Amino acid sequence: MNIDLPTSFNLKLEDFGDHFVWGVSTAAYQTEGAHDDDGKGPSIWDAFTLKKRTIYKNQHGEIACDFYNKFKEDILLMKSMNIKNFRFSLSWSRLIPDGLGAINPKGIDFYNQVIDFCIECDITPWVTLYHWDLPLALEQQGGWTNRTILDWFENYVKLCAQQFGDRVKHWMVLNEPMVFTGAGYFLGVHAPGKKRLKNFLPAVHHAVLCQALGGRVLRHFIPDSIIGTTFSCSQITPYSNSTKDILAAKKADALLNRLFIEPALGLGYPTDDVPVLKRIENYFISGDDQLPLFDFDFIGIQNYTREVVKHSCYVPYISAKIIKASKRNVKTTLMDWEVYPSSIYEMIKRFNSYSGIKKIIITENGAAFTDVVENGSVHDQERLDYLQAYLKQVHKAKLEGLNVDGYFAWTFTDNFEWAEGYRPRFGLVYIDFATQKRIVKSSGEWLRGFLKDQT
Ligand code: NOJ
Repeated sequence: MNIDLPTSFNLKLEDFGDHFVWGVSTAAYQTEGAHDDDGKGPSIWDAFTLKKRTIYKNQHGEIACDFYNKFKEDILLMKSMNIKNFRFSLSWSRLIPDGLGAINPKGIDFYNQVIDFCIECDITPWVTLYHWDLPLALEQQGGWTNRTILDWFENYVKLCAQQFGDRVKHWMVLNEPMVFTGAGYFLGVHAPGKKRLKNFLPAVHHAVLCQALGGRVLRHFIPDSIIGTTFSCSQITPYSNSTKDILAAKKADALLNRLFIEPALGLGYPTDDVPVLKRIENYFISGDDQLPLFDFDFIGIQNYTREVVKHSCYVPYISAKIIKASKRNVKTTLMDWEVYPSSIYEMIKRFNSYSGIKKIIITENGAAFTDVVENGSVHDQERLDYLQAYLKQVHKAKLEGLNVDGYFAWTFTDNFEWAEGYRPRFGLVYIDFATQKRIVKSSGEWLRGFLKDQT
């Protein structure tokens, strides 16, 4: 197996430079629980997890990490681990239960408490507006396939900006739009479970428009805010040197890595490589060539693995398929994702090659492995090796003068991993979900030491 895992990690905090930001990332549905407490309305994930056989062991986020009740304990733990930046998302249906009507004061109150407590603990809140949990009432009107989502989203972002913008200065509009449109509106494996191109294409277009719209609303209401949005991305390697596999890899790359960033930069959809995307024009109205543009202050890139892609005439529209890591005799995580540290470097390089990106931050990177509690401790050496190997690659990019200014580990505590349920644990902190007890894993202890001299 050809992988570059470090036997030793001798980088220090200062090697990444004074302005490099270190933090951890989480998301509302994956951690908060309290799914119908204090006036919260249902989201598409509350509904989707109720459908039998869609999620590993029919698990759900109804309680999750109980962050709703334990946020002080978790933020204090974060502080004790020298983590100074906390990325979390707001639950739209906790703030506006039906998505567009009455506001839930207890929802506002909850996030005010979280934000205030972060600030009290000297932790900067980085807020994601949308991390996949659309209010169910909006999905019942078509969700992301309905163009009216532009109005719903504008109203929601305005509320968040007005309520929290005096204290929250770091914002991200969307989390991984390729994943929530692809898995949720094409493959049907994530909420809301829709399939087919007729759902995917309008969802993509409306997400692209909301990505920029959210940015504009934030800038208007919080002129001194730092506005970003985040993208999933993976290095794509052709399975062989055959022309067909190379072409297949190019198509997969356009879909997985370019579909959402390029419209924001004014480059349009990557229709040359994936001609079926031309059909998105069916959902255009006049002015839609300009509306995707927004000058983000930073772009969040989220990288875990690489993909190996092969030509396949059975896959519609792109004639390309991903060869699973488990079939390639490579080191994998519990998600069956290849451990491939240089992918993060390649992705930093790739995003650097676009002109018009001001700043790049790694807003997610991490790994799920089997964690075992032994005598009250969790020695997660594989996760530690993974994190250090990826950080070495981030550092390599930095040394070469590439633009990369921060790193957020996914994730703080173990949590609900969507369709995979609670089986894959990504946390720096272990959770015993039966008791909600937290145990800092070896990887978390290492981070605590690594970050100790942060100013
Ligand atoms: C991407 C998503 O943003 C996050 O919600 C998910 O848990 C991690 N990656 C790991 O799959």
